[in-house]
Amino acid sequence: MTQKIYNTALKSNDRILTGDRPTGPLHLGHLVGSLQPRVELQRHCPQTVLIADLQALTDNGHQPQMVADNVLNVVADYLAVGIDPGRTTIALQSAIPALSELPMYYSNLVTVGRLSRNPTVKSEIRQKGLSESLPVGFFTYPISQAADITAFQATLVPVGEDQIPMLEQTNEIVRRINSITGEELLTECRPLLSHMPRLPGTGGQAKMSKTLGNAISLGAKPDLIQKAVESMYTDPGHVQVNDPGQVEGNVVFTYLDVFHPDKSEVDELKAHYRRGGLGDRKTKRILNDVLQELLTPIRERREQLLSDRTYLIEVLQEGSMRARIETNITLQRIKASFGLDLLGELQLTQH
Ligand code: TRP
Repeated sequence: MTQKIYNTALKSNDRILTGDRPTGPLHLGHLVGSLQPRVELQRHCPQTVLIADLQALTDNGHQPQMVADNVLNVVADYLAVGIDPGRTTIALQSAIPALSELPMYYSNLVTVGRLSRNPTVKSEIRQKGLSESLPVGFFTYPISQAADITAFQATLVPVGEDQIPMLEQTNEIVRRINSITGEELLTECRPLLSHMPRLPGTGGQAKMSKTLGNAISLGAKPDLIQKAVESMYTDPGHVQVNDPGQVEGNVVFTYLDVFHPDKSEVDELKAHYRRGGLGDRKTKRILNDVLQELLTPIRERREQLLSDRTYLIEVLQEGSMRARIETNITLQRIKASFGLDLLGELQLTQH
C-alpha cells in the first residue's frame, strides 16, 4: 500500500517524524491526510508524533491556555483512530528541552533573508495580515521545526506540499552543521508525500479547516454530522431530481469516493446522478450513513479516553521521556562537536 500512494518507498532504516499544532480538535481532513497514514506507517518504521505546542504558541502567544487545553484532546484523537502508543512515540514538544536548545545553535546559521524567502512563512504572514506585528517566534519557527526533525534524526517526514520549504530549510541546516563540524552528525530528511488528494471542506473549499468552519471533527455528535452533510455543496445546476447532475466538484461525491467502503456502489450512484433521477437528499442520506458508521466508534473511544485524563497524561509522559532521551543524544553530539561540552552533562540532582 505504501508503495502505491507515496512518492518514495520506505527503507528499512527510515525513522519517521510528524507533528501537529494542538490548536483544535482533529477532523476528517486530518483522518485521511495524516492519521490513517500514521496508523499504517507505525507497522513499518519507528515513528514519533510530536504534539507541537511550542509551535502552536508562535501565533497564539496571547492564548497559551487555548493551546494547553487542546493537548489531551489531540492525544485522545490519536488513540481513538488507532495510533498505538506501543508502536508510535507520542511526545509533547514543550516537555523536551533539546527541542528548545537546538534552535539556539541553528538560528546563528540561518539568515533573516533566507527566512523571509520561505514561501510557507511568507504566505502565512500575508494571510494573517502580520507585518511589524509579526512575532519573532513565528518568523523563526522553521528553525524550530528543523530542530524537531534533526533532534529525532528523522529521515522521512510525512507532510503536505506546504511543508516542503520547511524540509528544505532543515536540510540546509543539516549541511551547514555537517560542514562546520566536518562530521556526518546529522542526516538529511526527505518528505513523504501522499498522492491522495486533499479532502475539501464541506462547503467545497480547497481545504477542510476548523477556522473556515467547514470541518467535521472526529468527535462530532450525530446531529452535527448530519447537519454538516445536509449543508454540503453539491451541483448548483442540479435543481430538479430529474436534472442531470455533475459529480466533479460535488463534495458529497468527493466524500463518497473517500469514505464509502463499496466503490462499485459509488460508481452506480455517480452514473445515476449524471443521467438524472437521483436527488441530493438521497446522496446526502447515503453519505450521512457512511460517516455515522465511520465516526461513531471513533467518537465513543474518544469520549471514553477523555474520561480518563490520567491515562492520557501517562501516554504523553512515557512518550516524552523516550523522546527526551533520543533528542538529548543529538544535542550532546552537536555540543561535543562544537567543543561546548566542557562541563559534561550537569545533573540537577543533589550530592
Ligand atoms: N508544522 C507542522 C504543521 O503545522 C507541525 C510540525 C511541528 C511538524 N514540528 C514538526 C511536522 C516536525 C513535521 C515535523 O502541521
